[in-house]
Amino acid sequence: MVQLTLPKNSKIRKGKVWPAPKAANGKKPKRSKEFKVYRYDPDAGDNPRVDTYTVDLESCGPMVLDALIKIKNEVDPTLTFRRSCREGVCGSCAMNIAGGNTLACTKAISDVSGAVNIYPLPHQPVVKDLVPDLTNFYAQYSSIKPYLQTKTSAPEKERIQTPEDRAKLDGLYECILCACCSTACPSYWWNSERYLGPAALLQSYRWLADSRDEATGERLDDLEDPFRLYRCHTIMNCANTCPKGLNPAKAIGEIKQMMVKRKV
Ligand code: SF4
Ligand code: SF4
Ligand code: FES
Repeated sequence: MVQLTLPKNSKIRKGKVWPAPKAANGKKPKRSKEFKVYRYDPDAGDNPRVDTYTVDLESCGPMVLDALIKIKNEVDPTLTFRRSCREGVCGSCAMNIAGGNTLACTKAISDVSGAVNIYPLPHQPVVKDLVPDLTNFYAQYSSIKPYLQTKTSAPEKERIQTPEDRAKLDGLYECILCACCSTACPSYWWNSERYLGPAALLQSYRWLADSRDEATGERLDDLEDPFRLYRCHTIMNCANTCPKGLNPAKAIGEIKQMMVKRKV
């Protein structure tokens, strides 16, 4: 009989419960909220744990990122997470909050009932706590050549586009590469070495749909492979989780149609 064992460090152990804060008058805060946060330091050799922090909501901003920053500043400076813009533009604060991948800076604390569970984006190696290692994700993005490729000589001024052609990029150019979609995609979980995943494929279609790009054939050739494109099974987790409201599954469908059309 096959005996399966969990990999080393895969079991989550009981974490620390940090003391609850007191309001300015020394009493219990009027409104407080528990945050249960994944903690893991691969260099330390210990198993991951989930720590519990209580935050006084009267002295905290409205978003989950506000609470994480407050915890880091006032309770536990060792808590590690990424953030930069705090307004849904840079994509660096992507994490799994209350069971869904999203941006901590645009997720309201009041949207979560009960304790707020916070984990790193799933199925990626963890650098520390809430910071996933996205090396493979960025390498895949780089592999789709995310820039304008042309063969004709450059015009004197600029490569112009009609308003209609420009509109074809709506729903594509807004992607902030947060990786929420790819790390919510079951096909990507099991084949992330070979399947490009929804984020890279949406970006690929962003250039395939650009009327100024002249490398359509080469771009499609690169995707003609049983894994790079065709592992998408239209499960739609990607569209359901995208914090920018984009639909990578639709973009993937458009690429598949382009593949079919060029064959007939
Ligand atoms: S498509 Fe949405 S979820 Fe995916 S990387 Fe872009 S912004 Fe993030
Ligand atoms: S629709 Fe395709 S890319 Fe999106 S989650 Fe499902 S399998 Fe992944
Ligand atoms: S901090 Fe930039 S998207 Fe959240």
